[in-house]
Amino acid sequence: MAEALVFHSDLDSPEPWIAALKAELPWLEIRLSNAPGDDRDVRYALVWRPPLGFFSRFPNLELVTNLGAGVDALLARPDLPEVPIARISDPEMSRMMASFVLFAVLRHARDIPAFERAQRERRWHFITPRTAGEISVGVLGLGELGSTAALELARQGFRVSGWSRSPKDLPGIACVNGMEALDGFLAANEILVVMLPLTPQTRHLLDARRLAALPRGAKLVNVARGPIIDEAALVEALRSGHVAEATLDVFETEPLPQESPLWGMDGVLITPHLASMAIPKSACAQVAANIRRIRAGEPIAQRVDAARGY
Ligand code: NAP
Ligand code: GLV
Repeated sequence: MAEALVFHSDLDSPEPWIAALKAELPWLEIRLSNAPGDDRDVRYALVWRPPLGFFSRFPNLELVTNLGAGVDALLARPDLPEVPIARISDPEMSRMMASFVLFAVLRHARDIPAFERAQRERRWHFITPRTAGEISVGVLGLGELGSTAALELARQGFRVSGWSRSPKDLPGIACVNGMEALDGFLAANEILVVMLPLTPQTRHLLDARRLAALPRGAKLVNVARGPIIDEAALVEALRSGHVAEATLDVFETEPLPQESPLWGMDGVLITPHLASMAIPKSACAQVAANIRRIRAGEPIAQRVDAARGY
């Protein structure tokens, strides 16, 4: 029987992925989901948001790889097959995310929204710059992307602390963990960067009460998933000035609806969910390594724990 991988993405163009997969696994048939062929040949799936019912076409599936880091949408599906699931683990994706987070933190640390406001008013507005060491940045989530970003911020000299579920030891980062540490963590950081997965535990984790726990004038960066923050509560916190500025790449509803007050808010930068993406050339090595592991009867790497939600 032939052995095939099916590729489906509602976002990425398939050509670079097919070329990168073929370079890693020349013997494997790489098939687009709408291409003709015997569905029984398909043993592996590399997917981002396939349509409902997609997986039931493939009775011999052995591995699903999520074409991205966040698996919230995949795990929420009622039609998820009972096979191992991996998320993309890609060093280039981590670097792209770390550079976006650095940009966002610098935007707030170097008062860029205040200069943009002043420019609109044709006003020369001098603010004495602060050094990075005077600014505390908290990173919620110290996983693959979160820890890379936190280390990059520390390399730039910021006072960085990080929060995760289990204890962590990262050079130059003050790491704390667990719910009991969260309120103190929020209160201690002028700039908060959200890098958590969306799970039942993290949905609306940043509600009105926790946003109020941030110091007055705090700045918020969300590059993880919109529903981790109660967006209505964030709008109120921005209106009151308790949260002074925000850089938002992800939203409760995407695309962000026309009527969202966030569009028109001073100090809020909106980007359309592109802080980072999986890069075919670098990501396919991991996809291929897992396929080799499946064929050798070995456990896969970067396996998603469905019960944990990430
Ligand atoms: P990851 O490797 O799965 O790490 C998740 C981190 O969050 C871990 O440190 C984990 O703690 C922590 N965490 C999870 N649940 C928690 C809880 N209830 N309380 C405290 N800490 C908790 O994730 P990643 O690769 O760093 O990526 C993070 C997220 O970024 C993804 O899930 C995705 O949604 C998002 N993302 C967005 C973009 C974009 O373009 N905007 C691109 C890629 C990814 P432990 O270490 O203790 O397990
Ligand atoms: C993008 O949002 C991802 O989860 O990879």
